[in-house]
Amino acid sequence: MMPFRDSIGTPLYEGCTKALLLGAGELGKEIAIEAQRLGVETITVDRYDNPPAAQVAHRHYTIDMRDGAALKAVIRRERPDAIIPEVEAINTDALLELEEEGFFVAPRARATKITMDRIALRRLAAEEAGVPTTPYRFARDPEELREACEEVGFPCIVKARMSSGGLGSSIVFGADQVREAYEIARRRARGYGEEVIVEGICKFDFEITELALAHYDPSGRVVISFPKPVGHLRSGSHYHVSWQPFVLIDEETGLSKSPLQAFGGKLHRSEDPTNPELLWRSERDGEKITAETAREIERQCYKIAERVVRKLIGAGGALEGLGIFGCELFVKIDEGGKPTVYFNEISPRPHDTGMVTIATQDLSEAALHIRAVLGLPIAGIRLLTPGAAHVVLSSEDSRWAPSYGNLSRALGIPGVRVLLFGKPSTYRERRLGLALAISDDVLDARLKAMEAAHLLEGGIRYGR
Ligand SMILES: Nc1ncnc2c1ncn2[C@@H]1O[C@H](COP(=O)(O)OP(=O)(O)OP(=O)(O)O)[C@@H](O)[C@H]1O
Ligand SMILES: [Mg+2]
Repeated sequence: MMPFRDSIGTPLYEGCTKALLLGAGELGKEIAIEAQRLGVETITVDRYDNPPAAQVAHRHYTIDMRDGAALKAVIRRERPDAIIPEVEAINTDALLELEEEGFFVAPRARATKITMDRIALRRLAAEEAGVPTTPYRFARDPEELREACEEVGFPCIVKARMSSGGLGSSIVFGADQVREAYEIARRRARGYGEEVIVEGICKFDFEITELALAHYDPSGRVVISFPKPVGHLRSGSHYHVSWQPFVLIDEETGLSKSPLQAFGGKLHRSEDPTNPELLWRSERDGEKITAETAREIERQCYKIAERVVRKLIGAGGALEGLGIFGCELFVKIDEGGKPTVYFNEISPRPHDTGMVTIATQDLSEAALHIRAVLGLPIAGIRLLTPGAAHVVLSSEDSRWAPSYGNLSRALGIPGVRVLLFGKPSTYRERRLGLALAISDDVLDARLKAMEAAHLLEGGIRYGR
């Protein structure tokens, strides 16, 4: 485990402090920027040249990170103080071996291995940590899967044991669709066993990411801190919009300042007009949330995240791991305002929906992560302002070097800023940038972020 740290060296010279990022996308870019601000020598690794984080790092390696030998060759040469996984597609057995050799893998190698395996993670969360989830079953062949789906109830969602970004997942409405769902999940599992998972659908009102942070406090004790929950929505499997706080309570009225803009509601459908056929529409859309409901949601978020993180990195009563965890949760509020929060999954790294913290917190999720994994103390996390983030997606496949227009109009919206990731090539729905907006309310921030993001999307010129 990384010891408590009180000093940092000079990059590129003897005694430097070194961070090595496995995965160099937009989250990695933010981590690299924060590492550079601290004077940390920063090395990136990814499967292609010139990814976003490499553009702000000292050095970059292009390798296949699922190849354990390649991974070990780079890491043993660089001997970083902290190895920071930014994606899931990494050879986690190599990470376990490197940890045995004395390297520090954030938050711990075991956590990176369990969290990429949906079956191991579901067992740990639902059966060991005892947090609420939708009903689920595991199945080894199409016949077992049919029985499992019937037990869980249709419609349900079948997922590959190892996958991300929604790949290998399908919604199944009846027994006749089970075989195909099994094949889709199997193909995506990349040889990771025959087993798949099926889950009952949670017709949530909105989703939350709780960015639980395991870190040293200034006295050198490892503790877990809880930034304010981030609300988010997607339509398909991709992240589309997030905001923080998840609801802003007006203390005078005891109600949310603005009505909830929930799953399938009018705002959600204008944020993502490409996906009109949603499975359900939230019945809480347009309603104001009470302070009591909001407090209860928050309480459940922290409790679930804490229990799962403790199972992932706890050893006896102590914590043996450092870094941020994106704990994905579903929120369902009943007619009487009573909420239930369900655990979906957790990833031991900054979360895409958490990029909103760049605008809303004193320390972004990336700043928190690099500080935590280097063993530096964190004395508190502050939410400075309500804000929202909205993705900027590519509409074209296989184009190179896009340029981004409409900037004067997007940046003309007060409170808006824009992140352009600098990805060299495109595919349909690839995330190329992010519009961030701050305001005195989350609804206004969401409207501004949406306007800016849609302007940017309309202004992309694709190279030929
Ligand atoms: N049981 C469920 N009930 C309702 N919606 C679900 C369920 N499982 C997944 N979803 C929806 O699909 C999204 C992606 O699911 P999940 O997190 O399991 O997939 P993933 O492949 O890991 O995606 P990502 O890598 O983007 O997190 C969820 O955020 C949610 O919107
Ligand atoms: Mg997910």
